[in-house]
Amino acid sequence: MTTQPQHTCDVLVIGSGAAGLTLALQLAETAKVILLAKGAMNEGCTLHAQGGIAAVLDKDDTIDSHVEDTLRAGAGLCDPGVVQYVAENAAEAIHALIGHGVKFTRERHEDGLGGYHLTREGGHSHRRVIHAADATGRAVETTLLKQAQAHPNITLHEHRLAIDLITSAKLRGGENRVLGAYVFNRDTDHVEVYRARFVVLATGGASKTYLYTSNPDLSTGDGIAMAWRAGCRVANMEFNQFHPTCLYHPKAKSFLVTEAIRGEGGLLKLPDGSRFMHNFDEREELAPRDIVARAIDHEMKRLGAECLYLDISHQPAEFITEHFPNIYARCMELGIDITREPIPVVPAAHYTCGGVMTDIHGRTDLPGLYAIGEVTFTGMHGANRMASNSLLECLVFGHSAAKDIAAHLDEITQPAPLPAWDESRVTDSDEEVVVSHNWEELRHFMWDYVGIVRTDKRLQRAKRRVDLLAKEIEEYYGNFRVTNDLLELRNLVVVADLIIRSAMERKESRGLHYTLDYPELDESKGTRNTVLVPEGYLKSSAGKVA
Ligand code: FAD
Ligand code: SIN
Repeated sequence: MTTQPQHTCDVLVIGSGAAGLTLALQLAETAKVILLAKGAMNEGCTLHAQGGIAAVLDKDDTIDSHVEDTLRAGAGLCDPGVVQYVAENAAEAIHALIGHGVKFTRERHEDGLGGYHLTREGGHSHRRVIHAADATGRAVETTLLKQAQAHPNITLHEHRLAIDLITSAKLRGGENRVLGAYVFNRDTDHVEVYRARFVVLATGGASKTYLYTSNPDLSTGDGIAMAWRAGCRVANMEFNQFHPTCLYHPKAKSFLVTEAIRGEGGLLKLPDGSRFMHNFDEREELAPRDIVARAIDHEMKRLGAECLYLDISHQPAEFITEHFPNIYARCMELGIDITREPIPVVPAAHYTCGGVMTDIHGRTDLPGLYAIGEVTFTGMHGANRMASNSLLECLVFGHSAAKDIAAHLDEITQPAPLPAWDESRVTDSDEEVVVSHNWEELRHFMWDYVGIVRTDKRLQRAKRRVDLLAKEIEEYYGNFRVTNDLLELRNLVVVADLIIRSAMERKESRGLHYTLDYPELDESKGTRNTVLVPEGYLKSSAGKVA
């Protein structure tokens, strides 16, 4: 048994992206908060977000229109009440960001500063995406983080990977509640105990389950896997969003080319320079992502092409460099001048629409445990998330969960000291190759068999493989001391299994889930979410019922 200090706080927030930071800053007015990040504090999808944040800010736009567009993109599976709630709270969330100091891009007027510039993206029938050039996430992340660093009630611990939630039922039976978490300290290689009155999962998505992704390395679905192991339901994991346009270049790992380029007139082209989107959707380049990604995938397979092209070079060079300075600079580093030539692009896994089920306050099935941001299934995105609705969901649910926790803080006492992490039965691994091999294998078969286009046969193949890997990894986990890679792989296997099982349950094509065996929508049983229920699921009064 290793004796380690036990960290205590009122609220333990696991994840320091837009969701975690928004919640922490609001709660810190009344509570002591510890915020964990498994890498550097600023690293996460939020930092890399480009296009912007959707909100009704133009006088000619309406909440109804934002709701309608979101429901349409979501292909019948959005919860209209949740979408309405998020759209109604969007402008306030943006003003809170501006209040924190986020500098959004303004319109240019001859006579000085105008209002904020709003761009357009796929699925939106109006210009409603507020942005900071083409690096909106960086502006949000760095500004909120700076505020959190300066706040006396917020303690930031980076390089801390949460392994599992500690719950009262697992410790002593009886009424269940979250009490804290076991956390791997990547600087010391020790596992530490964090105790808290409330725990919030803000760990982001799981796109690293796939070989090619726009996401940074840390998107391994840890929060989804932890919540699942703790008995929380998980929903709609079959809906993985593939972004249509990631830069195709051997040196451009995970670099996105924002949809806002298409919003500002960018055209998708085949290698011979001809356009093709009109063959797939009347909205052409501005169709929702599922349609554009599938169209690109179809054309690439039809032509045997390694990539297709996104061309904005017909716009004036100053317009391009002003609106897309980061993409321009990154492409220039790789020898591509986007003011003169088209950008080579391919689709890549981008966003996890499903996740831990929550209600409108971010409450999960486990009392005391909240989840916010990409880790969740709130009912907002349905079968396909509309562009720029994700950061928005992080902000709105960050606020609503903070409000709910603050209202219940006084009712809950600090848990007593918790058992330390038990390492008495494990040794150091002598076979690290098992981890690296299985990591590669998993991401390959997920890409090949559970990607943009699926079939029953491919899913069955993937299921056989994931079952085998799950067994092997559980055995490995039981015998050897934990490492960062082992912990992430253990979570990836859980998430891959949830994705495959969900995809196998959906016998139709809807939104992001497209299968050649059932290419049509099936409305005969009504629209339904795919809700997976874990062994040992304890339904609480707080949990949302689908
Ligand atoms: P993240 O920002 O991903 O943060 C996750 C946090 O959890 C990190 O701090 C990480 O260290 C921590 N963490 C994870 N696991 C653990 C663990 N086990 N222990 C401790 N900490 C852990 N959406 C939009 O709305 N508009 C956009 O323009 C847009 N552009 C995008 C561009 C790119 C390239 C990408 C990848 C995504 C984009 N998205 C966009 C999606 C959006 O950025 C994300 O959905 C959103 O930022 C998720 O925020 P989050 O707070 O939930 O998680
Ligand atoms: C992009 O800028 O294209 C990404 C927007 C998003 O994922 O919402």
